[in-house]
Amino acid sequence: MTEHRIPRPRSAKQGGQNTAPTTYPSPSRGEGNGVPKKSQIFWGAKGGGENLGSGIWTLGSDVEHGGNIYRLAEELRIAERKVIDFSASINPLGVSKKVKAEIRKNLKYLHNYPDPDTVRLRKRLGQYYGIDPETIICGNGSTELIYLIARTLKPKTVLIPSPTFSEYERACRMSSELRVMSYELKRENGFEIKPDEFIAAVKGDNSSICRDSELRTPNSELSATPVDMAFLCNPNNPTGRLLRRDDVKKIADIAKELKCYLIVDEAFIDFCPDDSAIKDVEDNPCLIVLRSMTKFYALSGLRIGYGVFPQPLIEVLKKYKEPWTVNSLAQRAAVIALKDKVYVKETFNLIKEEKRYLEQSFKKLNIKFFPSAANFYLLKIENAPEFIKTLKGKGILVRDCFNFRGLDSTYIRVAVKSRKDNKILIDELTEIHSSR
Ligand SMILES: Cc1ncc(COP(=O)(O)O)c(C=O)c1O
Repeated sequence: MTEHRIPRPRSAKQGGQNTAPTTYPSPSRGEGNGVPKKSQIFWGAKGGGENLGSGIWTLGSDVEHGGNIYRLAEELRIAERKVIDFSASINPLGVSKKVKAEIRKNLKYLHNYPDPDTVRLRKRLGQYYGIDPETIICGNGSTELIYLIARTLKPKTVLIPSPTFSEYERACRMSSELRVMSYELKRENGFEIKPDEFIAAVKGDNSSICRDSELRTPNSELSATPVDMAFLCNPNNPTGRLLRRDDVKKIADIAKELKCYLIVDEAFIDFCPDDSAIKDVEDNPCLIVLRSMTKFYALSGLRIGYGVFPQPLIEVLKKYKEPWTVNSLAQRAAVIALKDKVYVKETFNLIKEEKRYLEQSFKKLNIKFFPSAANFYLLKIENAPEFIKTLKGKGILVRDCFNFRGLDSTYIRVAVKSRKDNKILIDELTEIHSSR
């Protein structure tokens, strides 16, 4: 059996007997001394866990996401299906009928191992996007791929916007000792990502990074060093803000010049597909695009996501990937989902209609919401904790945003659901509004 050692992408000398290929584009700057200094990295309650030393981080209790209907059902002693879940942003149409039929049809083959190479699905994705199937890796949701990237590429300095999806930081911290730089999205700009500022932050310009004094990099020499990996969530979770494709390309082109990996997480881009950077990967050896089929296609319980990678990275990533993580039903379901044009059209219509309803209602109630390109809204509500508690008691979950770096307990995120459910939410908001 071949043993694959941990790759040392920065310097062949460091690796000793490293057997992993080192031909893929590897950032060669910003070594530091490998040991994160307390003042250079994020510590504290929002760091998502505890540093056990040697770069190992525990899963902090605050690394909670939405969607824990199980816990609330248990607390309230009600059936899970009775929970109205606004905390996970999943297509309110649920799994398409065609996909359900395909799953039923394939139940009889469950005794077989799934295809470890997800050939049929990758072929379908290749046709769908007009890209080479060999540049695609499928995962058990895109979360698996975030961890795979961090584990394989072991970045030393990572730029992560805040607020954003917390798993980027957690995955990187678990995989290497690193400095995390925060590109702070500002409330006064509606949490918009400014491409030029982000580029400056990628280059290590301190003025764009870490406004919070706790997070400021004290060493000007270090701060002028470009990062070797940057994450962009587009549209961003939890703000819903979108960067247009041209802007992503501009950032990706600079990342290429600087030999910095740019990971664009497009978990919610199916709601605005024209802005996907997926076709730009083939021309950029530093660009990685991640996609999820658990939001738009509602395959959250089945788990399926994929990534499009520069060709030279594929083989090395495969060496670090566990086999059979994408089960056979998920593979079948995804192929059919991608063909189901009716479902896509119905989804667009429904989401458009419901977003209009919600926005009008928020405006009427004078509730601060941020413009969203996705199927969720970030709301600012001063008495959010009280509201969350009241809703919970009624079997309704919203996403408490207190544990997003850059937000606090006055923010909640709510999914766009069916009219029936959305009306329940608006009625609840009306009630707290009138009781103020
Ligand atoms: C921005 C973002 N990326 C990735 C994921 C992970 O999605 P998946 O279910 O495909 O693992 C999520 C889940 O909420 C997310 O919000």
